[in-house]
Amino acid sequence: MKVLMINGSRNAAGCTFTALGEIAKELNASGIDTEIVHVGKEALDGKVNDMVASVIEKMKDSDGLIIGSPVYYSSPSGEIIAFLDRLFGAGAEVLKHKPAAAIASARRAGTTSTIDVLNKYIQYTEMPLVSANYWPMVHGSIPEDVMKDEEGVQTMHILGRNMAWLLKCIEAGKNAGVESPVAVEKIKTNYIR
Ligand SMILES: Cc1cc2nc3c(=O)[nH]c(=O)nc-3n(C[C@H](O)[C@H](O)[C@H](O)COP(=O)(O)O)c2cc1C
Repeated sequence: MKVLMINGSRNAAGCTFTALGEIAKELNASGIDTEIVHVGKEALDGKVNDMVASVIEKMKDSDGLIIGSPVYYSSPSGEIIAFLDRLFGAGAEVLKHKPAAAIASARRAGTTSTIDVLNKYIQYTEMPLVSANYWPMVHGSIPEDVMKDEEGVQTMHILGRNMAWLLKCIEAGKNAGVESPVAVEKIKTNYIR
C-alpha cells in the first residue's frame, strides 16, 4: 500500500515537508510506502498541468492522499490552490473512495481556516476524511520549530496511525468482498431554473 503526500509550500524541505515526514514515519512503521511530491515551486510557473498529470498517474498506484500547505494570509498557499483546482477537476475518478487528510503549517494563526479550505476538496470527492485528536496543524517558521511543537508532532503521528488503520480496514473489507459504492448520476441544481 502507498500514500501520496503533496507539499504545497515553495520550500521543498520546510515546515510543511517536516510535518508530512512525521506522518510518513507512522505510515512506514505500519508497512505503508509514502512519497512526498513537491508542487509548491512550479504550480504558478505554468507547469500546473504537467504536475497534475503526473500526480494523477501516481494516484493510480496509491491508496491514500495527504495534502499539506503552509498558511499564507490565513489561507492555503496560492500554489496549492492552483494545483488542487486542477487535480480535483481532472482526477476525481482516481481519487474517489481513497482516504485523505489535509494538514497546515503556520508561524502562528490561520491554520483552521486553511484546513477548512483544503478539506473541501476531499469532501467533495467522496474521499473518507482521516482525523487525529486535534485539527492537523504544526507551528513554526523553520523545521526545527516544528519539531519543538510537541503537540503538533504528536497530532501528525496520530493522523498517520489512523490513516494506516483505515487503509488496512479498507483492504480487509475488499478481501472480504465489500464493494465500493456504485456511482450515481449527480443531480446538479442551480438557483435560476
Ligand atoms: C506569504 C506568506 C504569508 C504568510 N501568512 C501567514 C499567516 O497568515 N499566518 C501565520 O501564522 N503564518 C504565516 N506565514 C508563515 C508560514 O505559514 C509559516 O512559516 C509556515 O510554517 C511555513 O511553512 P513552509 O516552511 O512549509 O513554507 C506566511 C508566510 C508567507 C511566506
